Amino acid sequence: QCHTSQRILRSKDMAKKIHVQIPATSANVGSGFDAIGIALTLYNDILYEERRSGEGWSITIKGLGVDSLPTEPEQNMVFQAMKRAAAYNGKDLPESGYLTTVNRIPPARGMGSSSAAIVGGIVLGNALTGNKMGKDDILDVANAMEGHPDNVAPAIYGGLTTSITIGEKAATNSIPIDDTLSFITVSPDFEVSTEEARQILPKTIAYDEAVFNVGRVSFLISSLLEKRYDTLVYGLQDKLHMPYRIQLIPNGAKVLDAAMEAGALGATISGSGSTLIDFAPSHERDIEEAMISTFAEYDTKSFGHILKADNNGVRVIESEVE
Ligand code: HSE
Repeated sequence: QCHTSQRILRSKDMAKKIHVQIPATSANVGSGFDAIGIALTLYNDILYEERRSGEGWSITIKGLGVDSLPTEPEQNMVFQAMKRAAAYNGKDLPESGYLTTVNRIPPARGMGSSSAAIVGGIVLGNALTGNKMGKDDILDVANAMEGHPDNVAPAIYGGLTTSITIGEKAATNSIPIDDTLSFITVSPDFEVSTEEARQILPKTIAYDEAVFNVGRVSFLISSLLEKRYDTLVYGLQDKLHMPYRIQLIPNGAKVLDAAMEAGALGATISGSGSTLIDFAPSHERDIEEAMISTFAEYDTKSFGHILKADNNGVRVIESEVE
């Protein structure tokens, strides 16, 4: 209500501000390759501030990726996504504006940093051009930009999402995950490119391997819905990508074993890596330390996060300030 009355009072010396907050995501979740993802309680922020027309757009990057991400609007993924949303709404973006992105999601580590940029940019672009898009429209545009829906869907809807593509469109269901379950992520200090991690996958797989994954993915969902955390370990097993991709993370298999020994219920690669992720209801610090120290035994530095599921997805906070 406050926002509405501020709008009525709006005068030339009041600037519009929009703050978009987007969760990190972990795609695949073991057996759900290109289909399942989960939103996590680690966030990037995008702050928009209105500028007088004629001043153009400028972008400031803070936090992770400050030295590597482009601030030139046409090359910046947030800005590109804003333009896609404006086009979807049949409008142009305002000709000027000031953006600050505050990045906490590690870039290029399999934790959804590019999805956060895409989803955040679409949501902001939509807010600036009439707010006509619902979450399903945002999913369509984000999926077209990212190429597969498993990272963008949880960033939009929150929770654990199952997504499919039907023709050109994506469809998603979201399941809330309560905070009895923690997610421990440990990211080594090297990147794995998604492109390379997709290229090393085989073109075909054996029938029994497909059947293996159908069973595992059904157990992933049923274990979570029934809170049968003792059977969750099976849901994280996979024959579609894990056996190939674990080679791209030196000593990754040993780190996953260390997590299991320290009390994790299941452990896998987050997205296409290089982050490793575990599920656990307790002993989170022990698990994080076991993983970091195992990487350290092989002279690999790494950093961890102990997170919960985010069940909301992207959020928008609008305000007008003098
Ligand atoms: N499902 C994707 C993959 C997620 O594993 O390649 C990474 O963007």
